[in-house]
Amino acid sequence: VFAVAGALAACDVVGGSKAPSVTMPSLAEHGARYFPITAPGSHDQQSCDDCHGAFDTFRKFDCVTCHAGTAGDATALAAAHAGEPDFPDLADPDRATSSGRCYLCHSDGTAAGVDHATRFPIAAGSSHAVARCSQCHVDAANRKVLGCAGCHPHEQATAASQHSGLVSGVEGYEFTSAKCVRCHADSQVTPVAAHLPFSLTSRNHDGQDARCLKCHPDFRADKPFGADFATASCRGCHAGAHHPSQSCYAAGCHPDGTAQGD
Ligand code: HEC
Ligand code: HEC
Ligand code: HEC
Ligand code: HEC
Ligand code: HEC
Ligand code: HEC
Ligand code: HEC
Ligand code: HEC
Repeated sequence: VFAVAGALAACDVVGGSKAPSVTMPSLAEHGARYFPITAPGSHDQQSCDDCHGAFDTFRKFDCVTCHAGTAGDATALAAAHAGEPDFPDLADPDRATSSGRCYLCHSDGTAAGVDHATRFPIAAGSSHAVARCSQCHVDAANRKVLGCAGCHPHEQATAASQHSGLVSGVEGYEFTSAKCVRCHADSQVTPVAAHLPFSLTSRNHDGQDARCLKCHPDFRADKPFGADFATASCRGCHAGAHHPSQSCYAAGCHPDGTAQGD
């Protein structure tokens, strides 16, 4: 391969203006342009032939023989991908085609590289970079079943807890993972004390009335499991006796949740 590449490169140079069209990528270039094969990635121990050896072109490669045989169990691999519509048939003898599917989702050689930011932040540097896929996704067949509560200790809404400013119940705090992710869809935290100018600590809307989901009942369009905090509704409590045709907040009449602020 080196000899042929060298010869072709030489031909090109001799031929004049064209840059060499066949070159051997350095390991770093291979990582940047095709697939990482150096540490700290998982593929620094693999030889060129492990991926390319079965083919007569470097454009083809085999991920499946190793992952569903030599270095991994096909059943476990299939289970980790249950529900992925593009996951290939591992029994397909055409390894180039099935491996191309792996590469579509894992072109950086990691599982974390799957674009997860649109769902929940788990990238390096985030609080949840330490979490394994299976700790949040406790049901391999349905990734909407979450395991947030398995990791975070049970937090009753007591004075000492992280949720002390919140009432427990349907529109408030509940120890279920679907509720965690509804209030923390970006892993964001909005302290009760920082909910200004609309105060959740003054007498009108504190305690029992500081139920986040009573005022924010809608779901986000981009994350259908998360509460849409950009919109607020007051009608759940204020039935409209005073000004039935007005939205209490949208008109900017009660920006801090008091009548004094008018
Ligand atoms: C873990 C698997 C793996 C290993 C190991 C590996 N490669 Fe690759 N290689 C790939 C993948 C994936 C591509 C992308 C192919 C594509 O996009 O067509 C690639 C692309 C290439 C290409 C560019 C092919 C083209 O598109 O023209 C060359 C050349 C190449 N590899 C050479 C090597 C050499 C030499 C080694 C050993 C030093 C090596 N590879 C090791 C997976 C691997
Ligand atoms: C449609 C995108 C997609 C395709 C195609 C795909 N993967 Fe994945 N892969 C994922 C996702 C998402 C996960 C995380 C699964 C989980 O643990 O919930 C993952 C996880 C993995 C893991 C870590 C498994 C574990 O036990 O945590 C490996 C290894 C892997 N994939 C290899 C492969 C191989 C090899 C192929 C090709 C046969 C492949 N993937 C095809 C998306 C894909
Ligand atoms: C010669 C064996 C071998 C080949 C070929 C191979 N891998 Fe791997 N791969 C491994 C090993 C070993 C690991 C590390 C242990 C593990 O996580 O399963 C790994 C890990 C992974 C992971 C999980 C990394 C993580 O973040 O945990 C993914 C995804 C993956 N490989 C995808 C691929 C893809 C895509 C190809 C083909 C381009 C490929 N592998 C080719 C052996 C191989
Ligand atoms: C800290 C928790 C957490 C971790 C860790 C995590 N996820 Fe997720 N993931 C989520 C949340 C939350 C959603 C959105 C669930 C929903 O749509 O209801 C999600 C959604 C997904 C989806 C889309 C599910 C669907 O049906 O639309 C995929 C695929 C996925 N995750 C793969 C992965 C992979 C691969 C890993 C490991 C690399 C991983 N997740 C690790 C929390 C996590
Ligand atoms: C593997 C265990 C684990 C799982 C599973 C997990 N977390 Fe976390 N979470 C952590 C760790 C560690 C931190 C960092 C702060 C700490 O030390 O308490 C954290 C922090 C947080 C924070 C505080 C803000 C931040 O980003 O630091 C929120 C909110 C949160 N997690 C929500 C969730 C939600 C929602 C889920 C489910 C989708 C979830 N967690 C699943 C371990 C986990
Ligand atoms: C009704 C909305 C709501 C629900 C449901 C909810 N939280 Fe929270 N969470 C909050 C608010 C608001 C705070 C900030 C409290 C304060 O300090 O004012 C918070 C604080 C936290 C913190 C502390 C973050 C820090 O850095 O101080 C963690 C961790 C956390 N929540 C995780 C969870 C988990 C895990 C669940 C599910 C068991 C959950 N939350 C359910 C609204 C909610
Ligand atoms: C009594 C009603 C009420 C309650 C209870 C309430 N909010 Fe709000 N919230 C509002 C109003 C009003 C706004 C301003 C909305 C606007 O700008 O249109 C707001 C704004 C927000 C915003 C800023 C949204 C943005 O995009 O600018 C966040 C985040 C938020 N609330 C989170 C919470 C959380 C978390 C809780 C529970 C601790 C909570 N809210 C409880 C009424 C409430
Ligand atoms: C969870 C129930 C609840 C929700 C939702 C709610 N409020 Fe209130 N609100 C109260 C209670 C309780 C009081 C005090 C008793 C009263 O005046 O009815 C109050 C009082 C008020 C007052 C009168 C304060 C005063 O100083 O006299 C205003 C103004 C007000 N709310 C505005 C709003 C606005 C704006 C929203 C929507 C963003 C809202 N409230 C949503 C429960 C709620």
